[in-house]
Amino acid sequence: MAHGRDAAPRQDGDRALREVTEGATSAPDRAILEFLERAGLMAPGVAPQFEPLPGGVSSDIWVVRAGSSRFCVKRALGRLRVAADWRADVARNATEVAWLGHVATLYPDYVPAVLASDPDLGVFAMEYLPPGTHELWKSRLAAGRVSTDTAGGVGRRLSSIHALFAKARGAEIEFDTGPAFHALRIEPYLLATARVHADVAPILEDLAGRTERTKISVVHGDVSPKNILLGPRGPVFLDAECAWFGDPAFDLAFCLNHLLLKTLWVPSAESDLLAAFDALAQGYLQGVDWEPASAVEERAAQLLPALLLARIDGKSPVEYLTDARAKDTVRRVARPLLKHLPKTLEAVRRAWADRDASVRQVSGRGEGPWIERLIGRRVWDSRGRPTVEAEVVLSNGASGRAIAPAGASTGVNEAIDLRDGGGAFGGLGVDRAVRHVSGEIATALRGLSIRDQGVIDRRLIELDGTPNKARLGANATVAVSMAALHAAAAARGEPLWRHLAEGREPTLPMPMIQIFGGGAHAGRRVDIQDFLIVPVGASTFDEAVSIATRIYTAAGQMMAASGRLHGVADEGGWWPEFSSNGDALDTLVAAIERAGLRPGIDAAMAIDVAASQLRHGSSYRFAADDRDMSSEELVDLLLGWCRRYPIISVEDPLAEDDHEGMRLFTARAGRHLQVVGDDYLVTSADRISAAAAAGSCNAALLKPNQVGTVTETAAAFAAARAAGWATIVSARSGETEDVTIVHLAVGWAAGQLKVGSCARSERTAKWNEGLRIEEALGDRAALARLPVRPSLWMSAPA
Ligand code: PGA
Ligand code: ZN
Repeated sequence: MAHGRDAAPRQDGDRALREVTEGATSAPDRAILEFLERAGLMAPGVAPQFEPLPGGVSSDIWVVRAGSSRFCVKRALGRLRVAADWRADVARNATEVAWLGHVATLYPDYVPAVLASDPDLGVFAMEYLPPGTHELWKSRLAAGRVSTDTAGGVGRRLSSIHALFAKARGAEIEFDTGPAFHALRIEPYLLATARVHADVAPILEDLAGRTERTKISVVHGDVSPKNILLGPRGPVFLDAECAWFGDPAFDLAFCLNHLLLKTLWVPSAESDLLAAFDALAQGYLQGVDWEPASAVEERAAQLLPALLLARIDGKSPVEYLTDARAKDTVRRVARPLLKHLPKTLEAVRRAWADRDASVRQVSGRGEGPWIERLIGRRVWDSRGRPTVEAEVVLSNGASGRAIAPAGASTGVNEAIDLRDGGGAFGGLGVDRAVRHVSGEIATALRGLSIRDQGVIDRRLIELDGTPNKARLGANATVAVSMAALHAAAAARGEPLWRHLAEGREPTLPMPMIQIFGGGAHAGRRVDIQDFLIVPVGASTFDEAVSIATRIYTAAGQMMAASGRLHGVADEGGWWPEFSSNGDALDTLVAAIERAGLRPGIDAAMAIDVAASQLRHGSSYRFAADDRDMSSEELVDLLLGWCRRYPIISVEDPLAEDDHEGMRLFTARAGRHLQVVGDDYLVTSADRISAAAAAGSCNAALLKPNQVGTVTETAAAFAAARAAGWATIVSARSGETEDVTIVHLAVGWAAGQLKVGSCARSERTAKWNEGLRIEEALGDRAALARLPVRPSLWMSAPA
């Protein structure tokens, strides 16, 4: 240690340790002076001068000038001023002295000479190798000066040292430092990383276990460019504090790891660094004579991806990789290698060198086309607000495009819709989300096969790193995820619904169409958010939509006749002017009849209470009816409506946090009607499963942007199906011409589709797309039926 450090201040990458060493005492105490005196290192009559050097793994280091002589003194710190699990006792100083001594007997050029030591004090003095003649390897690499000769020399010297110790008698006793090695290497690198990457944790734990059990030679424990000086007689190894009788593969992997990581630090030297990697590996393996070289190579090759990951996500990350993208690159290469452990160092090097290709391997079949470009774009939604469009361009020229929708009565547990804040667009700008698409996300997805949506979405989830897409924005991720889905279908030359169907019989969804908008979508003129009809009597999708339009038109005429027509609400339904919520329901029944249809037979009714919006403390307030209600009273009121009107579906009857109320309503109404969770379930597979177990709801609304990716939406769909529930794919109140959800509803055979009213193009875009799909399916087209339930309305006395 210490030598040449004044030329290149040490950066050991572990912040905690750096704090310790920076806080180390700069002046030695009496005990050290006495040690130097005893060792005969003090020039008579001259007070020695001590110059502290930065760095050293939990040690004080000084360059000492005593008369004409110069040397180094190193003292282990007994107590680290950091986390307890990094504590290591001063015996490691004696370990280092022993290591240096043994190496020097055979190879004096490989190490600085030890001049004196005091194991009880935990101090030793060694030769000073000045920076003028001994440059730090790390400094050279940082400057882009990479030599295969140097790397080969390091490899050859390292295997000579390992060979020496493999044959040295008693080394396993002298270097029986298992607990220290565990504390300084196994735990902070391998086990800490296992805690961060749960899916590969068993593999990392196995590697840790195997390394600790492999007893072959003395491992240096910290062979890296920062601990190697390049002197006139070749590389010199410093810092053997972690020396331990164990697996020599650890040193080889540890050092090679630095050469790989430095390609991200000094990209211009990448090819030279990879050549140095080969040279070091070859130089080392040629000198292996204590076991088959292929055996130590295999163990090193398998430790390498673990150490790559450890230097990003373990307790001692390298200090020079701070960029999120660089870190993601490391994870992207290391994780798949861990899942399919390599046998050769060449395999690791290849995976690293061909980082885009390694991404392709992750993506399942490893087949193209691959994502080549991703464009983020600000476009506008139906409320005139900014939203995110993503466009994915593939290596074969195919492309896909999608736009994120936006809610207004959003659930608190939804994924985050990232907005810029500030003055522009009332704070609703999406410039940050758009930049994420074109920047970070584009980089992360480039090179991925378009064939595996799961890999693409997992990458988005990992890149975001938060539980709710708060960093990248679910508006960014959902646009990208859906655009990728479109690109995948385009690459196969198939319509999206057919691409999604894969083995399932595509089915046209039963529409749920808004006639009056209320709540948060219509200035809260009435409290209930959606008054909808379900054209249960229709036998085709086309017929279903025309039934809805007839009722819509009739309702409009009735409102106009009574002077209550004031345009449309956010989802295209008529803007209500009703005296009460019941008035709206009465009008809806009347509109069905006026359209010449039979309520409950040709067209049934549905409501979305969106009750979270009506929650005030522990009660619910219906402003239009001037009424405050407990959960039980609200349940009674809703059940009363379900007896009076042909209502077959009630969405969010109670608030998102009113679990007891949801259970109560489902218990009383679930046998007779569809109880839909929207804000209550937020398209979360976990919430759906939990609600099913608790007996809340019997149907799930599925909104991709509530969760942020297609894959997670599919998981929610699967969870609902597993619970035997009905599923309704749904738009948001803020929509665009994007029709992805229609394809999801058909391809997944979800059963129902809710996109607002049958007016305004962002709504009709969906219905019209359904008509095209129905036409394309021809004879095979089938309209989904709702589960048959004995409705409360039918059984109620007239
Ligand atoms: P939102 O509401 O899209 O405004 O959140 C729609 C719904 O509650 O179904
Ligand atoms: Zn809703």
